Amino acid sequence: MSKVGVIGGGPAGCLAAATAAFAGADVTLIERNGRIGRKLLITGKGRCNVTNACPDINDFIDNVPVNGRFLFSGLSKFMTYDTMALFEGLGVPLKTERGDRIFPVSDKSSDIADALLAHLKKSGAKLVTDTRVTDVTFENPGFRVACEGGRTYSFDKLILATGGASYRATGSTGDGYGFAESLGHTVVPLFPSLVPIESSDPCCREMMGLSLKNVAVSICDKDSKKPVYTDFGEMLFTHFGVSGPVILSASSHIRTMSPGQYTLSIDLKPALTEEQLDARILRDFSKQPNRDFCNSLGELLPSKMIPVIVGRSGIDPHKKVNQITREERSALVSSLKDFTVPLTNFRPLNEAIITSGGVDTKEIDPKTMESKLVPGLYFAGELIDVDAYTGGFNLQIAFTTGYTAGISINDNRGDRMFNIAIDGPGGAGKSTISKAVSKELGFIYVDTGALYRAIGLYCLRNGIKTDDADKVSAALSEVSVDFTYIDGEQRVMLNGEDVSTDIRLPEVSMAASNVSAIPAVRKFLLELQRKIAREKDVLMDGRDIGTVILPDAQLKIFLTASAEVRAKRRFDELTAKGKEVSYDDVLRELIERDYQDSHREIAPLRQADDAVLVDTSDMTFDEVKERIIQLYKERK
Ligand code: DC
Repeated sequence: MSKVGVIGGGPAGCLAAATAAFAGADVTLIERNGRIGRKLLITGKGRCNVTNACPDINDFIDNVPVNGRFLFSGLSKFMTYDTMALFEGLGVPLKTERGDRIFPVSDKSSDIADALLAHLKKSGAKLVTDTRVTDVTFENPGFRVACEGGRTYSFDKLILATGGASYRATGSTGDGYGFAESLGHTVVPLFPSLVPIESSDPCCREMMGLSLKNVAVSICDKDSKKPVYTDFGEMLFTHFGVSGPVILSASSHIRTMSPGQYTLSIDLKPALTEEQLDARILRDFSKQPNRDFCNSLGELLPSKMIPVIVGRSGIDPHKKVNQITREERSALVSSLKDFTVPLTNFRPLNEAIITSGGVDTKEIDPKTMESKLVPGLYFAGELIDVDAYTGGFNLQIAFTTGYTAGISINDNRGDRMFNIAIDGPGGAGKSTISKAVSKELGFIYVDTGALYRAIGLYCLRNGIKTDDADKVSAALSEVSVDFTYIDGEQRVMLNGEDVSTDIRLPEVSMAASNVSAIPAVRKFLLELQRKIAREKDVLMDGRDIGTVILPDAQLKIFLTASAEVRAKRRFDELTAKGKEVSYDDVLRELIERDYQDSHREIAPLRQADDAVLVDTSDMTFDEVKERIIQLYKERK
């Protein structure tokens, strides 16, 4: 068992450690703070925007302006929906907000941090807190990690997940960049991203603390005169300049800034055209014709802003509003629709939510997060030179890279898993053959029929008619099905109960066949099946494995036999178990199930184009087994 060290207990490090431990490694996570996830606690204003609902990898990458393509392979292993499933599975219900941002329903980031800790504990990874790593050396092979106070650790493999250099108070002091450099890696210069912006205009300080909601902003480049960023939402004036969600987002679209190069333009009344705004002002003025101008804007603007706008409009503050001319009103409208603030600089790195720059992605294998320079060294999280816009993308990147590093660490091939897909009608001998072949090859055998059987069983137990698609689909929200492996033997869990025996009851077969024809059921089980195949070398059997579930499987087999031979085998099997059945009944049921499985609208049983047909009617068990092992050796 390899000894794995993980440095850093943020989201990337925690998921990396738990994933590696679940996959069988002996894992120790070292965190400098007294608890994990300190920075996580303050993200999303303490609510933790845990991911984005974005379901498509390419759309996700569009939100990652720096080195987005680097994430492609990782995202295909661990995507947004995997993050959601992870936390919901850990008992944290989630909700979607504006911009597809996902938050815990409780609005508490501590729920996310607690769930990560629970996941970590369950995995068996050891957690060492209050321990600051001072030095990391490569001992070829293996690593030595020295900590403050003189303690040292030896590991076969090491995952660096120390985070960025932003929000230093939370422990993100950027030590990891030094470790990476000392191990020979290039660090792309760091600069702040998702950071407030300074302005030389004293009006900002004057309006300090004022938050504007529903404003439209654009940032214009002095030379091109074009907006480099436009957005709508909330912003804030501060003693140094501007901040708040739209400003932080804007900052990640600008890589460098020299004073005076960019100007922020705020449309304070984006819902109104200039004409409509002028009419609105006239209406306000006509209600109070003898008021001084400086006292007339209370309904239009927050009080802190009034003196600033009055100053900018150029109108005498004490002029009576009924004497204000059309030209003066036009100047007022302009200062409301185009309130400009020159921008001078980003705030310093330690105020940034995200650090841009980091370990050069060219030196990291995107499939595994392993260093291309130092074997056994892996990177995860913000340390890597990848960054994204706000909206949950950056945390997802931490989870994706953490998971990828953790799952790859036990895999010496550093490549994708080998998948064997075996489809075919019931009774062709799939499961007996599959078990024997898996054992010989050291593969995990995944019997997907068991999943459909578990749902069929749930329906039978709860009086849900299995041919009532609406009722069955609705019941799925109460169902959780999963596999566990005990001594290499697959067990099927239905809402936490091991139902591996009960699903073999004869009445469950037809129920399983019925529920398997329901699209919602197939969709419900799809990701679970794919996930196992991503993580392990699997031999998976079913009806749609080569066609739908694992279309990229390296070896696909369509295993069949004549209906009579299959019925005879099943009949023998059942009588050997002491069951009283008639051959005719077995044959009839088999033909009925065949028909149903191959004529349903969704994922009907059929041979994939690139599957090898193995007709076992005239073959012995050993012949079939040898044939499949031979096919595997040819593809390996
Ligand atoms: O292989 P089995 O007899 O345990 O499968 C039970 C039912 O589930 C079978 O009638 C077809 C269905 N099934 C399916 O539709 N797709 C799969 N991948 C596996 C089984």
